[in-house]
Amino acid sequence: MDVVSNRHEIYAKLDHERISGRKIGLIPTMGALHAGHISLVKKSREVCDVSVATIFVNPSQFGPKEDFSRYPRTLESDLEKLEKAGTDFVFVPDSHSIYPPGFSTYVEPPAVALKWDGEFRPGHFRGVTTVVLKLFQLIPATVTFFGRKDFQQCAVIRRMVEDLNVPIRIEICPTVREADGLAMSSRNRYLSQPERQQSLGLWHALQGANDLISSGKRNVDEIQKAMKQILSDHSIERIDYAAIVDEETLEPLTTIEKTAVILLAAHVGSTRLIDNLLIEV
Ligand code: PAJ
Repeated sequence: MDVVSNRHEIYAKLDHERISGRKIGLIPTMGALHAGHISLVKKSREVCDVSVATIFVNPSQFGPKEDFSRYPRTLESDLEKLEKAGTDFVFVPDSHSIYPPGFSTYVEPPAVALKWDGEFRPGHFRGVTTVVLKLFQLIPATVTFFGRKDFQQCAVIRRMVEDLNVPIRIEICPTVREADGLAMSSRNRYLSQPERQQSLGLWHALQGANDLISSGKRNVDEIQKAMKQILSDHSIERIDYAAIVDEETLEPLTTIEKTAVILLAAHVGSTRLIDNLLIEV
């Protein structure tokens, strides 16, 4: 596995792979890797000849009161996990190679970024679109792999790629969960033992909503109330949103008539967790 931190070097090496006709898979991450990230590497290895992971805790996607400085940085164990998974290249840029002195150009995110996390984390998606487009420029990849765990992020990136004619294919991979249902996340490390128990409320709320829909309920208000009750039963009171939305536009629905997605964001102690579930009716 080749670990590269210089942007010219990674471009030169991968451009050589591309010209040689190899299919390059790109997996952007912020590190603190878990089995969810590794599932993206495995998918890339299935469909590509060369797999490239990137590790960069992107400051521009964190708000001033968010967890940028305490975000877990576990480079050594990340590299071990990537090597074991068969990653070919890891790009670990220093902050200056992504944000050089004088940097001032940002990518204005699409409309699908306005609601939900866009509302609760102002500026977050602008940071995501900017860094992801920069990674697409630095790594001449054929396919890039994203996790459905960050459902809105997937919608934002898909739209950006279409709107800006970026020559890359996007593959969305399923959410990897712990045995008890909690969606894997780098932020789960922040949870104390009692908070870890509480955090199951998110999965139970999604399951509860799914059960109601399976039993024929279609009224979104009613289902949302039930979800909030389940979260409250787990002592989760600070809910940013528990919404049922159109799978493409992410606009809120009042009744469920076709495939929809449940988006959930809530705080467990000082940790903000998100999860979602696709509902096919
Ligand atoms: P990060 O949170 O490190 O996630 C990197 C990729 O792993 C994303 O595509 C995310 O959706 C995916 N992922 C995270 N948890 C997952 C899980 N439990 N199952 C499946 N996939 C999972 O998302 C980011 O970083 C950043 O915003 C980034 C795109 C790298 C831009 O900075």
